[in-house]
Amino acid sequence: MTATMHTPATQDSNAVFPMTPRGPLSAELMTLLSSAPDGTGAGDSLALSVESALAAAESITRDEDVQLSLFVLYGLHYGSLGAVSAEWEWQPALVAARSALERAFESELRATITVPVLPEPTRDAVAQALSILTSAESGPSLSRYVAAKATREQLGEFLIQRSVYTLREADPHSWAIPRLTGRVKAALVEIQTDEYGGGRVTRMHSEIFATTMRSFGLESRYGHYLPEVPAITLASLNVMSMFGLNRRLRGAIVGHLAAFEMTSSIPNGLYARGFRRLGYGTEVTAYFDEHVAADAVHEQIAAHDLAGALAEDEPGLLGDILFGAAACLVVDGWAGAHMLDAWSAGRSSLRAEQR
Ligand SMILES: [Fe+2]
Ligand SMILES: [Fe+2]
Repeated sequence: MTATMHTPATQDSNAVFPMTPRGPLSAELMTLLSSAPDGTGAGDSLALSVESALAAAESITRDEDVQLSLFVLYGLHYGSLGAVSAEWEWQPALVAARSALERAFESELRATITVPVLPEPTRDAVAQALSILTSAESGPSLSRYVAAKATREQLGEFLIQRSVYTLREADPHSWAIPRLTGRVKAALVEIQTDEYGGGRVTRMHSEIFATTMRSFGLESRYGHYLPEVPAITLASLNVMSMFGLNRRLRGAIVGHLAAFEMTSSIPNGLYARGFRRLGYGTEVTAYFDEHVAADAVHEQIAAHDLAGALAEDEPGLLGDILFGAAACLVVDGWAGAHMLDAWSAGRSSLRAEQR
């Protein structure tokens, strides 16, 4: 069964970007990146705009201008911004802007997120602490709602919100591979090998998700729905990119992946059930079905061989491993709550002005 009820996202007249700016900072960045670097330097103006955007943001995590700007800056490294010149990637003004935004984002997260009491830095104690952290109930469940109640339109929104990460699935955590060594690196590579399909493109999780989107009646081109995706959803990807791209935060990206894998298997079974309830077949549910089995294995590797072993090898990273895990649960929880709140109020969870 396919559905085509979702109106395609609006495309900005600016051909370089598939989305419109959401404030002065993202506007300045997009204008700058629409041309090739000319060496005249945009540092002072951009630094001032970053400062003003941070001062104007009530919450860095939920601010549309700041989160879109971070998304665009990370896009330079992923190559997910279409026609933007690759020459921009390491321009000092952009690296400085990204770094200033990240410091503010990271401090807000550290000030907001409660990290559990630290266990002993051993494989088993860390795995157990992560297991306790990830099994705690934290508010209403998006997966139970999807399984039991979501409408066809809400299932489409769910796929769109998820697509910002899932069409690039595994990439943010892969930045950590060269930043780790020995058995910890081997554990991360073991997980990522499955995420990338073990060498078969049709088994890559991002490709399976693209098939899910198309079979549901949605576009699967990366960025197509960006104009409709709110800051909190961009934040859930940006937090992974920030942890992955900063070597000092390698404990946090490992903790993030551990929590991600440890909370994946059961919810994915519920998501699959929600799509089946409305008559969708395996061409749509394959992505979720795959994760029920794969992540039951990944969660063991992630808890013991990845996070636990890293804590043993580098005990100084223990706090960040737990912080990264807690950040994954909290920020993804906020993104899920955003969808549930909108739906329970009879609204769309996508950005209204773009629809
Ligand atoms: Fe996956
Ligand atoms: Fe996985």
